[in-house]
Amino acid sequence: KQILNTDVFGKRYVYMDTTESTNLEARRLAQQCAEEGTVVVTEEQAAGRGRLSRGWYSPFGKGLWFSLILRPDFPPAEAPKCTLMAAVALTKAFHKMGLTDAGIKWPNDILVNGRKLVGILTEMSGSMEEISHIVMGIGVNIKIKQEELPEEIKQIATSLLMEGIEIERTEAFKIILEELEHQYYEVLDSGFDDTLNEWRKLSVTLNQEIEVRAPGNTYEGVATDIDNDGNLLVKTSTGDIKRVVAGDVSIRPR
Ligand code: BTN
Repeated sequence: KQILNTDVFGKRYVYMDTTESTNLEARRLAQQCAEEGTVVVTEEQAAGRGRLSRGWYSPFGKGLWFSLILRPDFPPAEAPKCTLMAAVALTKAFHKMGLTDAGIKWPNDILVNGRKLVGILTEMSGSMEEISHIVMGIGVNIKIKQEELPEEIKQIATSLLMEGIEIERTEAFKIILEELEHQYYEVLDSGFDDTLNEWRKLSVTLNQEIEVRAPGNTYEGVATDIDNDGNLLVKTSTGDIKRVVAGDVSIRPR
């Protein structure tokens, strides 16, 4: 049995055998005043949700499918950076597990040798003035085997097992929650600057030639940096610098 070495994250948790989506469940709980740090974790999701209205493959017992409720008191405009913060914490957690090849694809996919190991879906509720709560949904592929992957993601997904890391889910969960809490308190104490710098170091997107795909607008360029808001800066062949805001945009290497 693992003892969780955190102050707040995961001290209250809801465990479910099955659910539609832990993000939906966590939002429901947050609306009923669930405390910061509350975690909803499930064995499987019937309708796991991903970014850009995609789904998320969440088979029974093969991954960590969970959502974390946050109630930070920084302005809503800062909330998108929480996703980058989570990506930094998770990547550091994988390095601790011995997976040194894990890196971040902007904004928040964690890749190993070009294949996706983790997805993060951050959803905020509140007004322009104040964050009511943030639900941070995280899916980590742990025990999925290559042959079990659905056809659509066979070439683009990976798991800890596929990368040669054999770890119990409870142990992985402990390491991940501890890293997430550590990173979150660093941000609350001293702002996002250091975390964005760590993101830059762990990124596999910077200095790469990429293609940016937004609805009705696709272009190519070199990813040069992220700005203070976490937007990606892309230098096109004409020398223009374009600012890419996550939203409905996806990028891929050229
Ligand atoms: C993405 O990369 O598109 C984000 C995927 C996020 C998946 C996680 S699994 C737990 C939580 N509940 C959901 O329905 N989605 C997130």
